[in-house]
Amino acid sequence: MDLLKLKTWSTDEILGTVEEGLTIKGQPGRYADMLEGKTLAMLFQKTSTRTRVSFEVGMHQLGGQAVFLDWSATNFGLADLADEAQVLSRYANVIIARMLRHDDLRQLASGSEVPVINGCCDRYHPCQALGDLLTILEVRGKLEGAHVVYVGVRNNVCNSLIEACTKAGVRITAVTPEVNEPAEDTDLITRAKATGLFEETLDLEAAVADADFIYTDTWIDMEFFNNPEFEDEKNRRVKAFLPYQINAELLTKTKALVMHCLPAHKGYEITGDVMASDRCIAVDQAENRMHSQKAVLMRLIGPEKIK
Ligand code: CP
Ligand code: NVA
Repeated sequence: MDLLKLKTWSTDEILGTVEEGLTIKGQPGRYADMLEGKTLAMLFQKTSTRTRVSFEVGMHQLGGQAVFLDWSATNFGLADLADEAQVLSRYANVIIARMLRHDDLRQLASGSEVPVINGCCDRYHPCQALGDLLTILEVRGKLEGAHVVYVGVRNNVCNSLIEACTKAGVRITAVTPEVNEPAEDTDLITRAKATGLFEETLDLEAAVADADFIYTDTWIDMEFFNNPEFEDEKNRRVKAFLPYQINAELLTKTKALVMHCLPAHKGYEITGDVMASDRCIAVDQAENRMHSQKAVLMRLIGPEKIK
């Protein structure tokens, strides 16, 4: 079983993982040796703070070990991706890979003899969405009936959030005037709409009026944010998306809490005062990545009884 995207995970698997993550958060000591002797290989083509550290520390806290590989310091770039992944999988019990392109992640997974976890590619960020559900569950006590409004570019984070919410009984509204081209997934949108839990609108004020959570992410993915070749597109997006910024004025129109997968780009998709306010739960959300991912690791390589 892999975790490349949430499409292949059932509602029971998603809800079970999220609930297990919350249980682990409450009683971490009970799980301290669950993955003793197990190794997580962590292959990153892109930068990361949360995903890297939460997986590495989480694996240690479960009694296992983690080996971090910066793509540029490996020989993955010299060889066939699937072949190199097969070798890596002989040293590890599970692999997390943060790849630029989803197709490369799939290629990697095709060679691996152990489960592969998507650590965020251009199309999906499933681990983020599982942590987000855990946060919503923790705040509300239940998932069903919650209303999340995602504001910004429809991207990797948004795609996985839509899949996670619609499978978990959470209403989700996307206020996303544009889609990152590689993240276009018409099948996902069609399936989400069929649940009756997903809708799209550009009326931000109407959307947030009954929201429980407003969620945003960067307008420009990490590999482009400081890239001089992307400068003109960055300027265009900033102008186009400023009306969709999460700021203090927007928060007067709603009682919703504010979520952000982080890193936040203050002054762009969210203002510094909103980030610093009691309404923003992004740091708890970031912490919860670790707890939900422990549940993912246990489900993929843990003792049979907890799968
Ligand atoms: N939210 C998230 O995945 O953060 P990192 O890019 O720092 O891992
Ligand atoms: N959409 C963002 C997510 C960061 C966790 C990116 O890909 O950079």
